[in-house]
Formats: sequence, structure tokens, C-alpha cells
Amino acid sequence: MKKNILIINGPNLNMLGKRDKNHYGTMTLDDINNLIKKENYFDYIFFQSNHEGAIIDRIQALDYDGLVINAGAYTHTSIAIHDALEIVEVPKVEVHLSDISNREDFRKINFITSVCDKTITNMKEQGYIEAVKYLQRKLNVIK
Ligand code: DQA
Repeated sequence: MKKNILIINGPNLNMLGKRDKNHYGTMTLDDINNLIKKENYFDYIFFQSNHEGAIIDRIQALDYDGLVINAGAYTHTSIAIHDALEIVEVPKVEVHLSDISNREDFRKINFITSVCDKTITNMKEQGYIEAVKYLQRKLNVIK
């Protein structure tokens, strides 16, 4: 049986395709999820929410073998998501489409990095693919 990977996207990531293309690229979230599915050595659970509590509830389900999270703006504000991730013992990868280290100062505050095994930024949709490949190596999954 394939292992399950939870892909979490936070607020406003359902609007990809309409957001600033220089930062976020041109793909919609569905496009990105379809791209991820091509990495078919895992089964994927795709979850997007604009609500902090819903994201925490999804993390707490603990029904997955690895996790990829783009917490959107909650990255810079949410101690609650930090605390939820801290409890999770499976490998966790933080992804950002844009280069959060070279934007507004408020994007330099980050509550997610310290509770993830790896952070990938500034690769647009390719960052999710790199995240899944990292989990493949980490979980010893053969293609
Ligand atoms: C983002 C970066 C965040 O600062 C921003 O609020 C987002 C998207 C990214 O993928 O680059 O919504 O997480």
C-alpha cells in the first residue's frame, strides 16, 4: 500500500492563478495538485482552507505518513499552527511559492520553519515537487 501524504494549503492559495504572477506563478491550485499527483509513489490528501482552526483540525487528524504545508500568511502569524505541527512526528516540509526572505519585513517572521524538517521557498509550483521528493527519500519510498 502506498503511503499517504497530506498537502495543506492555507489562506488565499485557492486564489492562485489570480494572484501576483511574479511571486506565485501562473498555475491554479488544481494545476499544482495535478502536478503533484504525477509523483505517483504516494497517495495524496489535498486540503486547502482559509481558516486557521480548520487547518489545525486537519493537522490533528494524524492520518498521514508525511506532510507538506504552505500556511500562506498564517506562516507569519500563527503560533497555533506552530503548536499543532510540533505534536506531529512524521516528516514535515514547509513550502512557499515566493521568496519570502526578499519581500516585506513582516514576511520574515516565521512560526513554521522551526517545526518542519525542511523549508523550500522561491521555486513556485516546483517547490511542492521538491517537497514530495524529499519525503520520498526520507520515507525510503522506491519509485
Ligand atoms: C506564501 C507567502 C506568504 O507570505 C503569503 O502570505 C502567501 C503565500 C507563498 O507561497 O509564497 O499567501 O506562503
